[in-house]
Amino acid sequence: MIMFPSKGKILQRLLQHRHTFWCSPPFGKAACSRLVLGIETSCDDTGAAVLDDKGAILGESLHSQKEIHLRSGGIIPTVAQHLHRENIERVVQEALERSGVDPRQLTAVATTVKPGLALSLGVGLEFSKRFVRQHNKPFIPIHHMEAHALTVRMLHPVAFPFLVLLISGGHSLLAVARGVDDFLLLGHSLDEAPGDTLDKVGRRLSLRKHPQCSTLSGGQAIELLAKDGDRTRFPFRTPMGQNFDCCFSFAGLRNQITMTIMKTEAEEGIEQGTLLSCVNDIAAATQHSVASHLAKRTHRAILFCKANGLLPSSSPTLVVSGGVASNQYIRKALAIITETTGLHLLCPPAKFCTDNGVMIAWNGVERLREGKGILPPNVDVYYEPKAPLGVDMTAEVKTAAIRLPSVKIKISN
Ligand code: KG4
Ligand code: ZN
Repeated sequence: MIMFPSKGKILQRLLQHRHTFWCSPPFGKAACSRLVLGIETSCDDTGAAVLDDKGAILGESLHSQKEIHLRSGGIIPTVAQHLHRENIERVVQEALERSGVDPRQLTAVATTVKPGLALSLGVGLEFSKRFVRQHNKPFIPIHHMEAHALTVRMLHPVAFPFLVLLISGGHSLLAVARGVDDFLLLGHSLDEAPGDTLDKVGRRLSLRKHPQCSTLSGGQAIELLAKDGDRTRFPFRTPMGQNFDCCFSFAGLRNQITMTIMKTEAEEGIEQGTLLSCVNDIAAATQHSVASHLAKRTHRAILFCKANGLLPSSSPTLVVSGGVASNQYIRKALAIITETTGLHLLCPPAKFCTDNGVMIAWNGVERLREGKGILPPNVDVYYEPKAPLGVDMTAEVKTAAIRLPSVKIKISN
């Protein structure tokens, strides 16, 4: 019987052949490792980076649309699409130039194709399709949340499995990362994401008018103002106290905060759009409630993992990433939980918590190393605005209905 090599094997041989070819002169030392170009456009950041197969960042470029969206009071998808279109060519070019890598030297191109804003994802995907066809390079489609979860491995030698909490403007989820493309989803948001809540509260409080906050996102502004606030003045209820699972809900909390703001505006006799005198206290109470909700759901996820042997007994780790993970108060709240439960807490630096091209290129490197999800340049790939991460275990977590021991989240500013 004649055995034909599988598609994957052919691709693997092609990659090995390329490696030998580019390791010869005139391409020099950088050419000796496998090189991945990563491209990110899933939301409001146009990012690109070139990494070698050890995770060294050879060149990167990032264009943030934050200020424009801050001015318009939120992300308008058509505006985001237009800005991605305007910047993608330059951003990719810059990342390549800074790395000193010629497109011919690349081993593969990795691009976010899910989940995210359809119009934003489309720009990155169309650009990448053209690029890989033009340069005849393998294409690695990337799941944005998988990339957030794996970024930590570029910086620390964290072995699978580990627990990961991803909190950003678009997502909140708890999952066990068991492998590069193997996740167990323990919890997700039932309504909005924590960063979205903080951004909306920031807008309702008109924090852009605050002299210290004009260029900050809602989350950043609330963290800054909370430092001088008294959180006990507005005791908001931590959400979902009677739901013994690991899902999140922030819409009810936002409603509580909005009602309080309206009541305080009436008491102070001021109109919506004017800064309240107690803005620091509201910021502190908001931040505390978000931190407390995240900490409680994470605590339950840790206990669920322990009860089901999902984490290693030696050095079990919680990784926290996504834009909201740059919040120091939230990190401290999570540190209280990991200390109580004997887990090791790891958060990438803020620069790698928010969206960027580096994390996408790194995800490409991880997939390349394992030969997973590497496609030929001419294969049709579609973007997916909604794409859950991993195997859904939320029903099992709910059935387990784990009650939490009382832990005081007491943090000094
Ligand atoms: O991960 P990211 O850059 O984009 C996605 O949403 O995917 O996260 C942006 C979000 C925004 O909602 C922003 O308000 C929030 O992260 N954020 C913060 C902080 N820095 C950014 N939230 C709380 N504290 C911060 N220091
Ligand atoms: Zn993100």
